[in-house]
Amino acid sequence: MADLNELKRTFVELYGGTEEGIECYFAPGRVNLIGEHTDYNGGYVFPAALTFGTTLLLRKRGDQLLRFASGNFPTRADIVLEGAKNEKEHDWINYPKAVLVHLAKRGYTFGGYDVYYLGEIPNGAGLSSSASIQLATAFGFMTSEGHPVDRVQLALVAQESENQFMGVNCGIMDQFTVANGKKDHAILLKCNTLDYERVPFRAEGCKLVIGNTNKRRGLVDSEYNARRAQCEEAVACLREAFPGLAFLGELNAAQLAANEHLIPDETVRKRARHVIEENDRVLASVLALKDSDLTTFGKLMVASHDSLRDQYEVTCKELDVMVEEALKLPGVLGSRMTGAGFGGCTVSLVKDEAVDEFIAKVGKAYAERTDYRADFYVGEIGDGAKAL
Ligand code: GLA
Repeated sequence: MADLNELKRTFVELYGGTEEGIECYFAPGRVNLIGEHTDYNGGYVFPAALTFGTTLLLRKRGDQLLRFASGNFPTRADIVLEGAKNEKEHDWINYPKAVLVHLAKRGYTFGGYDVYYLGEIPNGAGLSSSASIQLATAFGFMTSEGHPVDRVQLALVAQESENQFMGVNCGIMDQFTVANGKKDHAILLKCNTLDYERVPFRAEGCKLVIGNTNKRRGLVDSEYNARRAQCEEAVACLREAFPGLAFLGELNAAQLAANEHLIPDETVRKRARHVIEENDRVLASVLALKDSDLTTFGKLMVASHDSLRDQYEVTCKELDVMVEEALKLPGVLGSRMTGAGFGGCTVSLVKDEAVDEFIAKVGKAYAERTDYRADFYVGEIGDGAKAL
């Protein structure tokens, strides 16, 4: 967690005045444990909030100006909310702007503020740095103005702003997790109803190790949208057997197996198989966790990765190498890519005593077999957006 006193000093250097009236907020990043590319298919996901994320400092101004700055990016901007648009030169500032514009659309008003962000999440690593900025903004501004803070609603507004203002067609998983996370708990979320359960993540004797391939998620936007379109195509074909079907997530593996022939395109069929089997894996993994059966949980993680590689085709050489090297070590119970894919991070379930060896050996082999060097973070599960 960032040093708040230091951040406040930086804030005053930037904006003048005193530290009085500075409010501090935080929103985490997230790691998805299992349930990948199921959220926009109305399926289950099982993610958790991290202990690192984005810290936001706010101070009311008394006019309508919003002044944005960050410790991570050079771009600064002074804007007014009314009529605000996505502008290329505003770079990262478009994210907070998007959220505030979409909250304003729902009738919430905001005065002017001096605003400063410091993020600890590597960008483009698939750990939801953008959802973290969005939720820090939504939570901080709504709290400061005394508006109601309904975490599910804030997540929905943040997702809507990403879809409509930023033009990124993501599902609800990231924003929901960043808003609703709880220390030492993962969230079982059904994405079409937003019913959810916080499940204690009791992995006695094990750690979650996040491996950053440092390969930025290239291609992700176009390929992500292509996958979404293929899933919609599968739903359209399957309606012949299931009239009124809205999402692949409504079907189980047996129902798909009996009706696969309705999907003529082999690629589309593979996409549907991944989504439906992954959905079943999420439920099985939650049962395994509740039974403290980490061996089964780990095997399901590996099955998830295999399916993302072979059926959904969203991994890449770097993700596959990292998972492959992880699984060579006896202290590793499971390993898979996490997030959208095409680069970014893996998450592995590693026995406590094997963590150092994991970082050393996987790091070395990864550097030898790819053009990148890996970074590793031992993931602790933290709280959702909060005031500091
Ligand atoms: C990205 C999106 C999420 C989800 C994952 C894949 O992180 O933002 O909504 O679709 O990819 O599971």
